[in-house]
Amino acid sequence: MTMVFLAWLGLLFFFLITSPFNSSSALPSSHFPSHLPLCHPHESSALLHFDNSLSIFNYTYCVYGITNPNSTVDWNMSRDCCTWSGVTCDEVSGHVVRLDLGCSGLHGIIHSNNSLFLLTHLQSLVLFSNQLYGSEISPQFGRFSSMIHLDLSDSGFTGQLPLEFSYLSSLVTLDLNRNYYLELETSSLKRIVANLSSLKELRLSDVDMSFTSLNSLMNLSTSLTFLDLSHSRLMGEFPENIFHLPRLQKLDLSDNWNLNGSFPQYNWSSQLRNLDLSGTGFLIDFPYLTKTLKSLNTLFLSSCKLRGLYPALLGNLTKSHP
Ligand SMILES: *[C@@H]1O[C@H](CO)[C@@H](O)[C@H](O)[C@H]1NC(C)=O
Ligand SMILES: *[C@@H]1O[C@H](CO)[C@@H](O)[C@H](O)[C@H]1NC(C)=O
Ligand SMILES: *[C@@H]1O[C@H](CO)[C@@H](O)[C@H](O)[C@H]1NC(C)=O
Ligand SMILES: *[C@@H]1O[C@H](CO)[C@@H](O)[C@H](O)[C@H]1NC(C)=O
Ligand SMILES: *[C@@H]1O[C@H](CO)[C@@H](O)[C@H](O)[C@H]1NC(C)=O
Ligand SMILES: *[C@@H]1O[C@H](CO)[C@@H](O)[C@H](O)[C@H]1NC(C)=O
Ligand SMILES: *[C@@H]1O[C@H](CO)[C@@H](O)[C@H](O)[C@H]1NC(C)=O
Ligand SMILES: *[C@@H]1O[C@H](CO)[C@@H](O)[C@H](O)[C@H]1NC(C)=O
Ligand SMILES: *[C@@H]1O[C@H](CO)[C@@H](O)[C@H](O)[C@H]1NC(C)=O
Repeated sequence: MTMVFLAWLGLLFFFLITSPFNSSSALPSSHFPSHLPLCHPHESSALLHFDNSLSIFNYTYCVYGITNPNSTVDWNMSRDCCTWSGVTCDEVSGHVVRLDLGCSGLHGIIHSNNSLFLLTHLQSLVLFSNQLYGSEISPQFGRFSSMIHLDLSDSGFTGQLPLEFSYLSSLVTLDLNRNYYLELETSSLKRIVANLSSLKELRLSDVDMSFTSLNSLMNLSTSLTFLDLSHSRLMGEFPENIFHLPRLQKLDLSDNWNLNGSFPQYNWSSQLRNLDLSGTGFLIDFPYLTKTLKSLNTLFLSSCKLRGLYPALLGNLTKSHP
């Protein structure tokens, strides 16, 4: 009986290792778990057209010294688009919801007729550190009404940020840092600020805001935790109520030489940890700031005008930070 059983088992084993199913090293895509939906054909074709509209540079350097492993070079119709590198689909609907192509060597101009704008289910689009010089941020971006996370930093976008950006009302993080020829004008910014009520992180470092009225920042989302406006050519008085934002943790206003303003006497953002006012025209009352901002970890004040002189205080600082 035992012998028969073993022989049967051996046969089964033999069958398994010689079956054509197991002899192929890679599983064909039809053997992926059947509950995963397949890429929608119009979305894979939109992705391929987007890819074809740009060329790819073989990067040896990227902002963080590394090249993103996600590259469009493996995009082709032989596999489902949900498996392409940098592409993530929704597990239920199958729609493309994320595109992670930061630092992927993309080169060229994204015009408003680009098929990228057909991917209207996108919730996250990351294109930082590509070479898209001359691309304007098209009004078509307004079609991404489900977008939560948008990173277009350091990619050479130019022109005006369009009014239609205000349709991105679900945005939680917006990073437009280091797009040196991008401009923000007052009317768009007012509308954007008013409608992006979930915004937590806003990065506009190096964006040209020299034509922007600072009051348009007044109604920024009370959810805001991070605001970077460094080196944005801001001019005039900074709206005091930004200092009241209840969840604000980091505020960078550095290198805006024509920016000044006054600090509130009451109700400072109680979670403010990092404040950078270096290279601004704020008149700094150092004892007041350090006494009032209890949560502060770092305070940068290089090239700032200090009110009065505090040799005793500086002496104490040296002592406590040997
Ligand atoms: C990119 O360049 C590196 C070094 O120059 C080279 O080793 C690599 O094979 C290139 N990759 C592609 C896809 O051309
Ligand atoms: C498609 O991409 C796969 C790698 O992902 C590659 O092996 C295959 O040769 C590509 N097919 C074509 C037609 O480029
Ligand atoms: C690469 O793409 C995948 C999705 O395909 C994403 O999960 C991952 O975070 C991306 N990696 C980088 C470094 O962007
Ligand atoms: C998209 O628009 C650009 C600029 O207007 C034009 O040069 C290009 O031919 C258009 N592409 C398609 C596919 O229509
Ligand atoms: C605000 O966002 C909602 C939802 O996307 C949109 O319907 C509305 O038109 C937007 N309002 C403005 C002023 O942009
Ligand atoms: C800020 O919001 C208030 C109240 O909703 C409104 O009256 C005011 O016009 C807004 N200011 C700006 C600059 O958008
Ligand atoms: C900011 O600068 C302007 C122009 O120099 C000046 O009129 C204003 O009083 C200053 N405001 C503060 C709070 O220092
Ligand atoms: C400070 O905030 C508290 C609670 O939100 C409020 O009651 C008080 O009126 C505020 N004080 C000032 C001067 O704005
Ligand atoms: C500096 O330290 C001394 C001794 O601890 C203290 O009496 C003095 O008030 C401190 N000065 C300031 C400006 O904090």
